[in-house]
Amino acid sequence: MSRVVAITGGNRGIGQTLVNKFSAQGDKVAVLDAAPTPDDETEEILKDSGGRYFPCDIRDRLQVNVAVSDMEREMGPVDVLINNVGILRVNDFINITEDEWDLMFDVNVKGLLFVTQPVARSMIARQQGTIVNIASMAGKIGMVGQGAYGATKAAVIQLTKVLALELGPHNIRVNSVCPGIFFTEAGMPNLPSLGARREWKDKSALRRLGTPDEVASVVAFLASPAAEYMTGQALNVTGGMVMD
Ligand SMILES: NC(=O)c1ccc[n+]([C@@H]2O[C@H](COP(=O)([O-])OP(=O)(O)OC[C@H]3O[C@@H](n4cnc5c(N)ncnc54)[C@H](O)[C@@H]3O)[C@@H](O)[C@H]2O)c1
Repeated sequence: MSRVVAITGGNRGIGQTLVNKFSAQGDKVAVLDAAPTPDDETEEILKDSGGRYFPCDIRDRLQVNVAVSDMEREMGPVDVLINNVGILRVNDFINITEDEWDLMFDVNVKGLLFVTQPVARSMIARQQGTIVNIASMAGKIGMVGQGAYGATKAAVIQLTKVLALELGPHNIRVNSVCPGIFFTEAGMPNLPSLGARREWKDKSALRRLGTPDEVASVVAFLASPAAEYMTGQALNVTGGMVMD
């Protein structure tokens, strides 16, 4: 059965791969993204699969509420929410500016709150739904220059557990995925040089970096009935860079 799958930040990177994956499965995908219009590839995927694009900056509660109500009116209630938006600014803790700090917390944590509240309320009303939050291995291990980013991602992992407890009695599962390092715009600060790429490959038990499709497969599994007894988990997709 075709589900309505809402994906934040689906206009590029891992989010766009998620849009592709769920659309190919036959789901109707709604993209919520700050870019005012979809890029060519996103537009093409959505056109072919009956998906829709709802521009909004997830830091702005009003914009999010308008986008969510437009989405529900045009597509029906959301069965699967994927909170994928996230931004990374690398800076040592002693140098990080208040602006960098606020930006990452506003986008990665407050934005997740703004999107999840209205969608979860409507899932509660229907007593069904599932949510997957994209966290990061930086939320589990210490990474140099990623104090603020790592703290936002630890918050995402923690909020996943609390939401799983609060929404579980309503038949709603909530899990998170913790990617390692991938070639995307957000991932590039981790890979400034060939040396950095080699270093991260060596930290992986599989001796390679991952592809966004390898994240998307795990998200699709968590969102599927195959994972119906899983909730509150934070699954690493790191090629073994992190094992706990
Ligand atoms: N790329 C990696 O190596 C990596 C590793 C671990 C975790 N992650 C996480 O995976 C997720 C996706 O990362 P990515 O690498 O694909 O990112 P990306 O920068 O390539 O894409 C992010 C998308 O989010 C959108 N976006 C940004 N700010 C927004 C806002 N305020 N409101 C609405 N949309 C906004 C952008 O327009 C873009 O389409 C993020 O949560 C990121 O933290 C990425």
